[in-house]
Amino acid sequence: METKIPGPNFRESVKYLFRIFNEERSYVYQELAQKYGDVVTLKLPVKIVFLFNPKDIGIILMGNHLKVRKSKSYKYFFPLIGKGLVTAEGLAWKKQRSFASPHFSKKSTDTKLPLMVNKTKELVSRISSEIDKGSSEFDTLELLGNHTFSIITQALFDFSAGENEKKIQKHAIKLEQTLVKRIFSLIKLPTYIPTAKNKEYNNGIEQLNNAVYSIIDSQLESKSNSFLGSLIRSDFSKKIIRDEIVTYLIAGYETTNLAINWTLILLCQNPDKLHRLTEEIQRVMSNDELTIEKVNKLEYLKSVINEAMRIYPPVPFLSRESVEDIELSNKYVLKKDSIIICSQFVTHRDARYWPNPLEFKPDRFKDEKLIEKFTFFPFAEGPRKCIGAGFSKQEIICFFAYFIKDFEFSLADSDKIDHFSSITLKPDRKIALKIKKRIT
Ligand code: HEM
Repeated sequence: METKIPGPNFRESVKYLFRIFNEERSYVYQELAQKYGDVVTLKLPVKIVFLFNPKDIGIILMGNHLKVRKSKSYKYFFPLIGKGLVTAEGLAWKKQRSFASPHFSKKSTDTKLPLMVNKTKELVSRISSEIDKGSSEFDTLELLGNHTFSIITQALFDFSAGENEKKIQKHAIKLEQTLVKRIFSLIKLPTYIPTAKNKEYNNGIEQLNNAVYSIIDSQLESKSNSFLGSLIRSDFSKKIIRDEIVTYLIAGYETTNLAINWTLILLCQNPDKLHRLTEEIQRVMSNDELTIEKVNKLEYLKSVINEAMRIYPPVPFLSRESVEDIELSNKYVLKKDSIIICSQFVTHRDARYWPNPLEFKPDRFKDEKLIEKFTFFPFAEGPRKCIGAGFSKQEIICFFAYFIKDFEFSLADSDKIDHFSSITLKPDRKIALKIKKRIT
C-alpha cells in the first residue's frame, strides 16, 4: 500500500509556488521541510515533489540515468549551453561523459596543478602590486570570477588570454544572468519578439557563438592534448564542441568562485578557525611551491572548504524528472513525470545530521567516513555527479595555500551577509575584502 505524500492544499500550494518564484527560495524550501517533513508535494496540475531526506536523495541521485532525467527547466539553458554535458541526456550524455572523464581523472587533474599554481601566483602578485599602489579593498567576487574563468580556459581549452576569451567571458556571464532571470519569471516572452532586451540577448548569443567558433577554427590543426584538442579530433559535431566549451565555462567558473568567496567570508567571521588554518598553511607550505604531496597534507584546509560548502552550497538545489514511477522510502511512490527537487541548502542545514547547523565547525569533516551518505552533496552524487569536483577542489586549495601564505584579510564591513539563490547561491551584495600583506 503506498502512502500519500504530505503537502499543503491547492490554495496554499499556489501561494508556495508564487513564493518560490518571488522570494529567497532556499528559505521557502526550508519552510516546506519544517512544516511537512522529508517528502513534500505541492497540489498543483504539475506534480512537484521535494525530497529532503538522505535516503530518498540517494534513490534519485544514484538511480539509473534513464529512469530519472534532468527536469524540463534545464531547457531554458539550451540557447546558451545547448546540449553540453549538463543538459545532454540518454546515450548522447553517456558518450560525452565517457569522452570527457579521462580529462577529469585524478591523474589528469594532478597534471594541472602547475598551471593552477602559476595562475594563482599571478593573482597574488597582482594583488600585491595593487596594495603597493595604495589599494586596500578588493571586490573578491569580481577578482576571483576572472581568476577561475581564466583557469578553466587555459586548463581545458588552451585559450590564450586574447580578445576572444574576454568576449566569451563578457557574453557568457551576461547571457547566463538573463537566462536565470527568465527561468524564475512567471511570464516568459519568446526571444523572437523584438523587444530591446531580446535584441540585446540575441546579439549576445551571436557574439558568443562567433567568439567560440573562431577559437574552434583557430585550433582545427592543433595537436594539443587539451580537452578541446581531443574534442576537435573526435567525431563530435562542431555544434556539440561549441556547447561543451560554453557548458564547462559556465558550470565551472562561478561555482568555484562562490565556493572560494563563501569560504573567505566564513573565515573572516571565525578568526579562531582562520588562525588554525594559517598555522597549517605556513607549516605545510614553508617557502616552497605547492605540490600534490603538499595538497594531500592540507587536511584542515580541506575540512574548511567542505564546511563552507555545507553551509553555503554553491549549487543550492537540483531538479530532476521521473521517467517512470519510483518507489521511495516509507512507502511513498513518486509518480512518473514528477518534477523532483532535492536541496543541498536544506539537507546541509538539517539539525538531525548537522547539530547547530549554522555554526562553522570544519572539524565535522575530520573523518569523512563518519558522515552519513547524501547528507552532504555539494557536487551531487551518482552518474551525474559534477565531473569537475576534483578539479575545482584542487583549484580552491591552491588559491588558499598562496593567498593565506601571503595575505591577512578581513571583511570591509561587518554587516550581516545574506544569500540569494538563482541557479547558484550568491552573497546578497558585493564582497569587499580588506587585504594587506602578511608580515612574517
Ligand atoms: C565548487 C565548484 C563546483 C560545484 C559546487 C559544482 C556543482 C555541481 C553540481 C551540483 C552538479 C550537478 C548538477 C545537476 O545535476 O543538476 C554539477 C555538474 C557538472 N559540473 Fe560542476 N560544480 C563545481 C565545479 C565545476 C567545474 C570546475 C567544472 C568544469 C571544469 C564543472 C563542470 C560540471 C559539469 C560539466 C557538470 C555536468 C555533469 C553531468 O551531468 O554529467 N563543475 N556540478
